[in-house]
Amino acid sequence: MPTAVLDVYLTSSEAETALRADARSGLTSIPKVLPPKWFYDATGSELFERITTLPEYYPFAAEREILRAKAARIAEVSRAEALVELGSGSSEKTRLLLDALETGGTLHSYLPLDVSESALREAMDSLAVEYPTLALHGIVGDFTRHLGQLPAQGKRLLAFLGGTIGNLLPAEREAFLHTARAALRPGEQLLLGTGLVISPSVMVPAYDDALGVTAEFNRNVLRVFNRELGADFDVEAFSHVALWNAEREWIEMRLRARRSMIVRVAELGIEVPFAHDEEIRTETSAKFRRHGVRGELAAAGFELTEWWTDSAQRFALSLATAR
Ligand code: SAH
Ligand code: AVI
Repeated sequence: MPTAVLDVYLTSSEAETALRADARSGLTSIPKVLPPKWFYDATGSELFERITTLPEYYPFAAEREILRAKAARIAEVSRAEALVELGSGSSEKTRLLLDALETGGTLHSYLPLDVSESALREAMDSLAVEYPTLALHGIVGDFTRHLGQLPAQGKRLLAFLGGTIGNLLPAEREAFLHTARAALRPGEQLLLGTGLVISPSVMVPAYDDALGVTAEFNRNVLRVFNRELGADFDVEAFSHVALWNAEREWIEMRLRARRSMIVRVAELGIEVPFAHDEEIRTETSAKFRRHGVRGELAAAGFELTEWWTDSAQRFALSLATAR
């Protein structure tokens, strides 16, 4: 009899403690900086879903194109019994993998892990209906903190799609890959999606769309702070900025103060001054090259065995084996 369970590795009180610590350090640092994971309350997760439907946001469609073409091959190579997915969100593209792994006859369980409980619950409700014979084990957790606790029944394929690894800073990425390797047994696989370095004329509009959905997604972090920390950000007083940092090879999203102001964060008992045009960096989204991905994987103990790109070579999917 298939089961559906939801484990909470990140309780709401732990999330609140982490949010307070990130807000305190990020809003008092120079320059101001916030980690992107706080975008994803229920509204932020919905805004991300809208982003994936925008004509400018090519990564979603590019990765889906690769998965459509290669899911059967991934199933054949991995022969996975359990698919574990980090930052699974709506699990929409994952259905291509689930279908191929079910056809391959090996899969018995799917374990989506996401910091957004609302996105996870919604995805699991739909998946329970669509995949009635699959055991579902959702985990509300932080992939920078909870990889050591992943369940280990059967041969696993660890999927980290969407290019979300690019939202980690280089040192965080290195730590993440080492922890992911330690969480796997030799012979188990990592399936990793990465955006590629392409023309800024294509990359930047993907983060600065004409309808302003990404701008709302960016500003949503201020709404989260207002609600969760009693802050009084005037959300509309911040403009959305997206730029390509050619030296670091990442897209940066920032929020720029349209005027000087003082923001009170009641729960932290702090007042945060902003100069006119002062910015908060809210996200980096690194883009990659093949040799860089191969090198970072090798340094963490993974061997890159397959590298696939979409037809326009904007996005890559890597299959790597834990050595
Ligand atoms: N994999 C999906 C969704 C990508 S959006 C896709 O490819 O379309 C990024 C997802 O990662 C969101 O669902 C967000 O809630 C989740 N996320 C962001 N930071 C996280 C963290 N530190 N730990 C766990 N999940 C995180
Ligand atoms: C989830 N992550 C890979 C997205 C990205 O492209 O970096 C988040 C995002 N930020 C702005 N648009 C989408």
